[in-house]
Amino acid sequence: MQSGQASRTALGVALRRASHQVYDAPPLVFQDPVAVPLLGRAYAKALAESRASLHQTFSLAMRAWVLARTRFAEEELAKAVAAGVRQYVVLGAGLDTFGLRNPYPEVKVFEMDHPSTQLWKRTLVAESKLPEPGTLRYVAVDFETQSLRERLRHEGLDFEIPAQFAMLGVAMYLTAEAFQENLEFVAGFPGCTGVVFDYALPRHMIPENERYARDALAFRVASIGEPFRLFFSPDELRVRLGCFGFVEDLDGEELNHRYFRGRTDALKVRGRSGHVVSARKDPFAL
Ligand SMILES: C[S@@+](CC[C@H](N)C(=O)[O-])C[C@H]1O[C@@H](n2cnc3c(N)ncnc32)[C@H](O)[C@@H]1O
Repeated sequence: MQSGQASRTALGVALRRASHQVYDAPPLVFQDPVAVPLLGRAYAKALAESRASLHQTFSLAMRAWVLARTRFAEEELAKAVAAGVRQYVVLGAGLDTFGLRNPYPEVKVFEMDHPSTQLWKRTLVAESKLPEPGTLRYVAVDFETQSLRERLRHEGLDFEIPAQFAMLGVAMYLTAEAFQENLEFVAGFPGCTGVVFDYALPRHMIPENERYARDALAFRVASIGEPFRLFFSPDELRVRLGCFGFVEDLDGEELNHRYFRGRTDALKVRGRSGHVVSARKDPFAL
């Protein structure tokens, strides 16, 4: 992240979620009635322009990826809430809208993001006049230089009870140290605490015919000041997740099977690079 600049990749993924709401044929893979209003007039033109590339392979694949990981995260949250979890922490929230459409009045939502991105998001929320639920707290943080525990100390997050975390589209932009600190912070919570996040395989592990797309994407994000820095092999990640007893690691094929089967519009995840993980410390108590 460049200091003073809101995340441009956060805008990119928010536009993909929004264009799914208005341009993709039903059934929608991920329903988000707030995605379009949040972008408001500021990005109405960008949203309209997204229609032109809607059916291009890259656009279909990226949209599918963003939809699948967000849906999976909210499905995991629903399971956690059913098991009694009452705290949800969205790390690197960007323009994620869960906090604005939280259907669980008993669940507190903590949105954590880089100060510049969070300020921009809060301006969009204010301009959109969307109601801000009393369950939502914003906490600004730079994962590279600040401690999550310190930043959350006075915000009402209870460190003594389980929490559910999401960290979507974030790991690849962090240093290994910041990623590990975030994981360790999550692991410090008790019981059935869990986290959903995504990661990308190192370049040498992806098939040669996918490397061009990876390189093009890496060039694109680097050119807007958010270079990819962190990649994992599934084995390496498993080691890092050592204290999480239950790990589900989904690749593109599995995500397609779950969320895109039977579609006729070519919306599906492509390539082997991206994985989405749900890691939980203990099983849900029955
Ligand atoms: C690709 S966006 C994903 C946003 C959101 N999770 C989503 O899926 O829509 C990456 C997010 O990570 C945040 N981020 C990147 N580096 C960060 C850091 N060092 N500290 C805090 N947030 C960071 C950015 O501000 C941005 O919101």
